[in-house]
Amino acid sequence: MIRPAWRSSGILVAGMLAACMAPVMAFRVPGAGLTSLAASRLRVSSAAGGRLQRPAVRRLPAVLHMSASAPAADNAAAEGASTDGKPEVRKRILSGVQPTGNLHLGNYLGAIRQWVANQDKYENFFCVVDLHAITAPHVPAELTKSSFDIAALYLAAGIDPNKSKVFIQSHVTAHAELCWLLNCVTPMGWMEKMIQYKEKAKKQGESVSIGLFDYPILMAADILLYQAQLVPVGEDQRQHLELSRDIARRFNDQYCKKKSMPAKGRRVFREPEALIVKEGARVMSLLDGTSKMSKSDPADGSRINLLDPPEVIRKKVSRCKTDSFEGMEWNNPERPECTNLLNIYKAVTDKSEEEILAEVGHMRWGEFKPLLAEALVAHLEPIQSKYAELMEDKSQLKRVLLEGAEAAEAVAGQTNELAKRAMGFTTRQDLA
Ligand code: ADP
Ligand code: TRP
Repeated sequence: MIRPAWRSSGILVAGMLAACMAPVMAFRVPGAGLTSLAASRLRVSSAAGGRLQRPAVRRLPAVLHMSASAPAADNAAAEGASTDGKPEVRKRILSGVQPTGNLHLGNYLGAIRQWVANQDKYENFFCVVDLHAITAPHVPAELTKSSFDIAALYLAAGIDPNKSKVFIQSHVTAHAELCWLLNCVTPMGWMEKMIQYKEKAKKQGESVSIGLFDYPILMAADILLYQAQLVPVGEDQRQHLELSRDIARRFNDQYCKKKSMPAKGRRVFREPEALIVKEGARVMSLLDGTSKMSKSDPADGSRINLLDPPEVIRKKVSRCKTDSFEGMEWNNPERPECTNLLNIYKAVTDKSEEEILAEVGHMRWGEFKPLLAEALVAHLEPIQSKYAELMEDKSQLKRVLLEGAEAAEAVAGQTNELAKRAMGFTTRQDLA
């Protein structure tokens, strides 16, 4: 449950108390009449066609409280019960996957599996980044289906809606809006260094869009809106995370350094950190152990999709690239495929490297491959049946996505509001 900022964090409550005692802690926003509580009541009503409805705003003093550990927009930590009776403050995480094509083993091992494993530890927001999906040519008729697919796979892989908010990015309009604000803060030179853009632009040729170039800024908006402290992603996203940090810092430097603000509170955004798994951070193609398993690889045989039926998995594994060495071993630079397949085997069996070497170290490819295929089939089977259940009757999925969007919007709307105020915009509330 998303709580109003003043209730959701022990740190923030302490910060507010301190603010009462020492007015210097309070940051006065010119003309601001919207408290974080009131802002959290801003709702985009789907019944109203997505237009902002005037919230039942209780007008409170024009003061927003910010502190280094908990910015005003930031109910960025949730309380949970802890064993010693003290409220436990959980860090907030946000992550997302694009609804383009099928989710594959790389997305699952590099990202989603760790989201699931850490659900109790953090306050979680997971989105299906459909706005990112249109940065490459897409088929309109498939976008909705793919978005539901990915959301269903999140749940099927173990994301629990009682512990994590799951939503579709475009359902929370603040993402697109903050992206625009951040566009105007980010120097072109920073963007021209983005490796993923260069790689993808090469593939798209003449038809490459401004959207693809802007992709990392939209990603920064996704993250910064939630004041996320940690962002669990695969290794390939490290540069985008660095950019998000740089943008947050630049925005805070440019717009939050008014003399009237206390040193500690001079920011709107929190600088996020990447949370990158050691294992599964880079699952490689089945056809080339030196290139990443990816949705965009035209060869379907290069990846295991989470929804591949058992016979397809067996066929793909039997056809995957091998070498002429005998036995199975890790980290031989001449055998990237062997390392990759052992890593996959390790990830889906949860066995240790020692156990695996004892079990398969002496095997030939012909013996190891069927073992790997069956381990994959067994690991994916429960995910596939849960997915089928969720897609057969979508009512549960839709409910989860609706509740997720509402919770996300409450948080994102608040941050967006603060960013606009810091940049000097007037808002509709000022007109009331
Ligand atoms: P893709 O690169 O296949 O298009 P996305 O860009 O949608 O996939 O990535 C979604 C998430 O999955 C990101 O966190 C990304 O780092 C992770 N990921 C994608 N491919 C791999 C891979 N081969 N190994 C590990 N993680 C990956
Ligand atoms: N760019 C990410 C990827 O390709 C997807 C993404 C979009 C994302 N927004 C995000 C990941 C925010 C983490 C947080 O994998």
